[in-house]
Amino acid sequence: MNTPTVPVREQILFQLYKNKGRYISGEKLAAALGVSRNAISKSVAGLKKQGYRIDAVTNKGYALDVNNDKLSAAGIRFYLHERYPGFEAGPFIVYDLTDSTNSEAKRLILKGAAHGTIILADAQTNGRGRMSRNFYSPAGSGLYLSFIVRPKFDISKAVLVTAMAAVASARAIATVCGIETKIKWVNDLFFQERKVAGILTEAVSDFESGTIESVIIGIGINITDPKSGFPDEIKGKAGSLSQPCDRNALAGELTHNIMTMLDTIEERNFISEYKERNMVLNRNIQVSGNNKKARAIDITDDAALVVQYDDGTRATLSTGEISIFLE
Ligand code: BTN
Repeated sequence: MNTPTVPVREQILFQLYKNKGRYISGEKLAAALGVSRNAISKSVAGLKKQGYRIDAVTNKGYALDVNNDKLSAAGIRFYLHERYPGFEAGPFIVYDLTDSTNSEAKRLILKGAAHGTIILADAQTNGRGRMSRNFYSPAGSGLYLSFIVRPKFDISKAVLVTAMAAVASARAIATVCGIETKIKWVNDLFFQERKVAGILTEAVSDFESGTIESVIIGIGINITDPKSGFPDEIKGKAGSLSQPCDRNALAGELTHNIMTMLDTIEERNFISEYKERNMVLNRNIQVSGNNKKARAIDITDDAALVVQYDDGTRATLSTGEISIFLE
């Protein structure tokens, strides 16, 4: 971490995360980073201005408040460094506010962003969901992030990416927050009968060749209920994990899951867990595309949903443009 390419502020943060809740002297920080104590003090002042909760006490030094939950690249890197030594990921681009991390990802792809770039925001003004819906994304209560990936896999299997991301998210939530979520085909995560997370996968094609150049995997997780509650339109359906959960740790775990699972996506190792966590199997549903009632009877190896309509006919639903309503 102590390299000239990492900004001093990020290096200080990394050291503070390492000692979260404990004081580390300015002298020690200065020696570890190879800069002056004055530079440390100036950088800490800047970090505090950015919203990091850092206590500064004469003769003791600096300590990151144990309740500091500010989303940061250093916080995510620290988690990964501790839990998965040697695992490289990023760059992580973290905003306090953006319109939509998926939209920002699209803009960055046009500027040549690399495979593995991850965009995160504390809040979104125009968080987007499937079928042109909004995804409510207030500050301080959720995790909103988008992964830019350049697929090596056969893109006709794009629905697999969404299913993989659903399993990756459920696993990360279980590991970091200790909560088991269910998956509603194809991409919603539920806890206590309420939607707590959604996934929006978008493809960006090369204008000249017409081929899919990049895929954006956007994930939104409601960690705690928003301070002023959910808006009326989603009040009846939306929920949260309902307990504090370290957002940097959750983002790090999710990053590890997504990037490692992507490497072996075509082996479909996650499909059995996708089925186990699914809450639609063996339930009566309504398919929005044709408004017909059906029973969900299976999920294929390509993450498609097999349904049987009331007249006995069967269909395999694989398009991302279908919603189902549980009865
Ligand atoms: C859905 O519920 O239909 C999908 C919601 C996806 C929301 C996430 S939040 C991060 C990323 N940026 C967006 O604008 N959308 C996704």
